[in-house]
Amino acid sequence: MNILILGSGGREHALAWAVMQNPKCDKLIVAPGNAGIAQIADCAAFDIEDGGAVAAFAEENAIDFVIVGPEAPLAAGVADRLREAGLLVFGPSEAAAKLEASKSFTKEICDAAKAPTAGYGHFIDADAAKAHVREHGAPTVVKADGLAAGKGVIIAMTEDEAIAAIDDMFGGAFGGAGAEVVIEEFMEGEEASLFVLVDGEDVLAIGSAQDHKRVGEGDTGLNTGGMGAYSPAPVLSAEIEARAMEEIVKPTMRVMAERGMPYQGVLYAGLMIKDGQPRLVEYNVRFGDPECQVLMMRLGAQALDLMHAAAEGRLAEAQVNWADDHAITVVMAAAGYPGSYEKGSEIKGLDALPEDSSNMVFHAGTKAEDGKVLAVGGRVLNVTARGETLQEARDRAYAMVDGVDWPQGFFRRDIGWRALK
Ligand code: AMP
Ligand code: GLY
Repeated sequence: MNILILGSGGREHALAWAVMQNPKCDKLIVAPGNAGIAQIADCAAFDIEDGGAVAAFAEENAIDFVIVGPEAPLAAGVADRLREAGLLVFGPSEAAAKLEASKSFTKEICDAAKAPTAGYGHFIDADAAKAHVREHGAPTVVKADGLAAGKGVIIAMTEDEAIAAIDDMFGGAFGGAGAEVVIEEFMEGEEASLFVLVDGEDVLAIGSAQDHKRVGEGDTGLNTGGMGAYSPAPVLSAEIEARAMEEIVKPTMRVMAERGMPYQGVLYAGLMIKDGQPRLVEYNVRFGDPECQVLMMRLGAQALDLMHAAAEGRLAEAQVNWADDHAITVVMAAAGYPGSYEKGSEIKGLDALPEDSSNMVFHAGTKAEDGKVLAVGGRVLNVTARGETLQEARDRAYAMVDGVDWPQGFFRRDIGWRALK
């Protein structure tokens, strides 16, 4: 099979790494890719949010299967254009991608499916939103309805903070994403993510993970895209996972199919768990980044077979072959991230690190130049390891981190602390 992966982050490096291990993969192209991906696959440059351009590239290169990494091409309808061109693709349609692209859409689908989630109100003007806050009080959560690069969620501890967030959103602080606002009940509990493959009809859970969103140790400081993750998530016991599948994932997928927008691809369910009850925080229509890195480390080559089965509607007969293992990834970021940071510093020491089925440095924001690896993003490397226990995986990952010679970078020393304490 000739395979095309769309994307350029650590998530896509991990997908490429897993896919390449499967003998069914004859040729792999990643667009646009990065310096790490270029070591294992061909990279190509074109606009991955332009469905016509992706379809033309896929036809010219005799691609049999397209895997879409990030949400933006999905929300832009790239999977639809590819299917219209007769190509096999892993990733939902534009209509189904609204599960990530519109928070009010997701809340309404949850209502129809009777899936446990936070109570909410959906508003198109500031006065009604403020009245809702005054009626329900704080803490509360104010969300821009559309895609806002992970920044459109404000946890307001007081009514004043909520009112200010409403003014910001309707004032255009998040552009078009904030033209509509969802206000949610604040949920307490422990968060974990469940990853589920869906083929339009059948579902298959492929693992759980927890990430560390804050920049600082002890989960303090500014929010980031994620400073590390581990899998499995101990809080998501088999029993709670089964509840999440029966009460949340399956009913919402059924409603999507009934409404003529069957979901196909990976569904990332962000859950809040309290007293054994999972509730949905949000859906994403793609793998998490860096959660994908730990999932791929655990699944290895079978990830391709599973994604292919989802794309072909064969999940009913698919199964995951689990090893009783744990994986962890430590994000190395450029000093200053998530604020402003320098680009172009050189990273050394990578060649001496182990690369095998238990140790891998996935590249997120790197570029190769004159034989050097340069940091060109905020999150730059995802140092990932597997072990029989989380402690073993973590020791391996930090041993690799200590071998990276990159003075302009930083990382958290405490990834996994909640699961290890
Ligand atoms: P999101 O951008 O939707 O992933 O939300 C970012 C984070 O905000 C989530 O990972 C949660 O930690 C938090 N969050 C979102 N909605 C709620 C809620 N209703 N109650 C408590 N925390 C929430
Ligand atoms: N790590 C969080 C996300 O991918 O949305």
